[in-house]
Amino acid sequence: MTDKLIIFDTTLRDGEQSPGASMTKDEKLRIARQLERLRVDVIEAGFAASSNGDFEAVQSIANAIKDSTICSLSRANDRDISRAAEALRGANSSRIHTFIATSPLHMEKKLRMTPDQVLEQAKQAVRFARNLVSDVEFSPEDGYRSDMDFLCRVLEAVINEGATTLNIPDTVGYAVPELYGNFIKTLRERVPNSDKAIWSVHCHNDLGMAVANSLAGVKIGGARQVECTINGLGERAGNCSLEEVVMAVKTRRDYFNLALNIDTQHIVAASRMVSQTTGFVVQPNKAVVGANAFAHASGIHQDGVLKARDTYEIMRAEDVGWSANKIVLGKLSGRNAFKQRLQELGVSLESEQEVNVAFARFKELADRKSEIFDEDILALVSDESVTADKEQYGLVSLSQHSETGERPRASIVFTVDGKEVRGESDGNGPVDASLKAIESLVKSGAEMVLYSVNAISGSTESQGEVTVRLQNSGRVVNGVGSDPDIVVASAKAYLSALNKLQSKADRVAAQG
Ligand code: KIV
Ligand code: ZN
Repeated sequence: MTDKLIIFDTTLRDGEQSPGASMTKDEKLRIARQLERLRVDVIEAGFAASSNGDFEAVQSIANAIKDSTICSLSRANDRDISRAAEALRGANSSRIHTFIATSPLHMEKKLRMTPDQVLEQAKQAVRFARNLVSDVEFSPEDGYRSDMDFLCRVLEAVINEGATTLNIPDTVGYAVPELYGNFIKTLRERVPNSDKAIWSVHCHNDLGMAVANSLAGVKIGGARQVECTINGLGERAGNCSLEEVVMAVKTRRDYFNLALNIDTQHIVAASRMVSQTTGFVVQPNKAVVGANAFAHASGIHQDGVLKARDTYEIMRAEDVGWSANKIVLGKLSGRNAFKQRLQELGVSLESEQEVNVAFARFKELADRKSEIFDEDILALVSDESVTADKEQYGLVSLSQHSETGERPRASIVFTVDGKEVRGESDGNGPVDASLKAIESLVKSGAEMVLYSVNAISGSTESQGEVTVRLQNSGRVVNGVGSDPDIVVASAKAYLSALNKLQSKADRVAAQG
């Protein structure tokens, strides 16, 4: 019989821990809906006890998502675990994921606890969590660098307390595939009650081996859950990438012989959504979701693919959701055709009002751009102003003048709580002048830590998608804007980031 491999997505928790990748509650909910469409088995929605914002995000995801199990991380203490259980109350299926570090280094230097104290705390935490929910995952943080005998004692004890999943993190990305696979295998052989729990792998990518290590944990070690993130988002060099691990198991089913729930056709849309929301651009040569992942530039390859696709292609681009860059809609397309295309792209807008706003944006764009691609539609609906109820700042109009040898000037009209204001400034370039014109009135004092422009469909006729990352008083937010005019896209992105700066709270670190 074929075993099932459980896909546990932690984009919204471990992924979000990546500096600069923090997301708002609404953004998290949108991504969670896309993960549900992908048919991810478990969504780690956040770390409920870390901040009120995270609590609310976990709660709203737990209330809205019905087809995936919703999980919250919690440290191994009663307060964190209670907060997690409270946030998860509305879920159809919920899981508490509790963790404590078990490596000598972390216990001694970070926790300042003896191994026996850590063992006791792990047992107590799992016992407490099991009284609140039936699905409890335990992670020995820095598990891969822990002493094998001690780790076996801890894992045996937490299974006895009712842990249903045991997750073995390679927290610092130190493992190599064969050793990590054998590490999981040895644990499963040595822990006497190992068959009472599902074993899970959680690998970081510091040495670029997170996917390989996770797959070795599955193949050699017999793990049946992989923890991963969209685009491999995560602290430092990131986590194991969902799209790579899923497509490896699917494409090499002959080798892994494992079944997956995932509907792979939603992978590219998920990748785009995460990249647009966080401002973490996907490199063109990234496996599966990079713009070049299915492009054949060399004449020999193109000739081969035209004669027989499998000469150079081991996966089909459409199986992961790439469309053939076809023109999908135009100026004359109606609201129904637009709505239908949104559905085909796996985008579900919450209300008819949101569809109307998105459709008006589409018409505006179609007036200025003759060819509208799927990518344009995805960019258009990912613009927060389509879904946001009430924004403090919104762009009305922008004009700027730049000429060789002259300092550019911009004049911008935008709304502040519904009231129109006009700002003017010069700057080093038209973008700089426009953003300074906004700042001349808003005076946020925020520091810009990232500005990036991306051509959505690859040519100079395409829309520019701009990401602006702002930092203020220790808070970091991303704003995204798209428009055929990159100066306008920049102003939209800047205003969107300012809107987000209004609504963010401080949080506790997960590796605490
Ligand atoms: O990498 C890690 O150790 C973690 C744990 C909190 C599971 O993310
Ligand atoms: Zn991690």
